[in-house]
Amino acid sequence: MEAKLTWVEVLDNVGWLKINREGKLNALNRDLIDEIHDHLADFQSDPNVRVIILTGSGDKAFVAGADITEFSRFGPQEAAALVQYGNQVLFDFIAQLTKPVIAALNGFALGGGLELAMACHIRIAAEHAKMGLPEVSLGIIPGYGGTQRLPSLIGKGNAMEMILTGDMIDAKKALEIGLVNQVVPAKHLMEAALTMAERMMKNAPHSLKNAIKALHAADGSPKGFIEEALLFSDCFGTADFEEGMGAFLEKRKPKF
Ligand code: COA
Repeated sequence: MEAKLTWVEVLDNVGWLKINREGKLNALNRDLIDEIHDHLADFQSDPNVRVIILTGSGDKAFVAGADITEFSRFGPQEAAALVQYGNQVLFDFIAQLTKPVIAALNGFALGGGLELAMACHIRIAAEHAKMGLPEVSLGIIPGYGGTQRLPSLIGKGNAMEMILTGDMIDAKKALEIGLVNQVVPAKHLMEAALTMAERMMKNAPHSLKNAIKALHAADGSPKGFIEEALLFSDCFGTADFEEGMGAFLEKRKPKF
């Protein structure tokens, strides 16, 4: 295992996680996947962490994909085990975290890198960032949720185009089609991620948790509406509810 593949810090209720494999454009190998998982699990259980910001080291890449050298000789069974593991410990794990996760895209987000960004709840890109799912150019297809999460963010037609061409798009185009929430000059990327985190942190943690869960249930089916109603009523009577309602009635700002 390489020495330190990530850098982490908790500062003012924000859990910062930087992927630290710049020489390989932060490509996700197995050790890195495990390391990111462990830090995120710590953030999830740390009551001091309210929002998580995930980024890559350097100014070239967020993550340039899954580490191609690890699976270039795999057969179908090994490939199945790889994606099952990766989805369980990283991609689905992030999506299911109940604290908001913001991806700050400091450069290329390709293949598994874009899938990682899409598993996060929010994406903010530096102006020079480029995104794509180039798997078809390697003789495979996205395996870490790309074919599922991309259409739900940008619509099936745009997703078909991106996945079938394998072409990269720039940050401006990504904003236009809804793949990222915001685009900022590179030098303001961390500041923009922090501002987004602060806008969320003024709100009730229990509500953020239930809102994330309800949004995940949004597939347009009646099931989603039922789930929303359950999560809505689950907020009532909590300490966050008492504080939020009390603050409004007492004409003061809530302290969550
Ligand atoms: N897996 C493993 N290693 C990777 C990688 C990946 N996904 N992406 C980049 N690297 C490595 C390169 O092999 C190179 O290592 P080396 O210096 O030991 O040879 C290093 O990172 C720098 O990349 P390099 O290709 O030299 O940089 P570049 O500026 O010429 O090109 C990219 C940048 C992003 C266009 C190019 O690296 C690339 O196409 N990467 C693969 C993207 C991809 O297909 N991702 C999907 C994987 S499923």
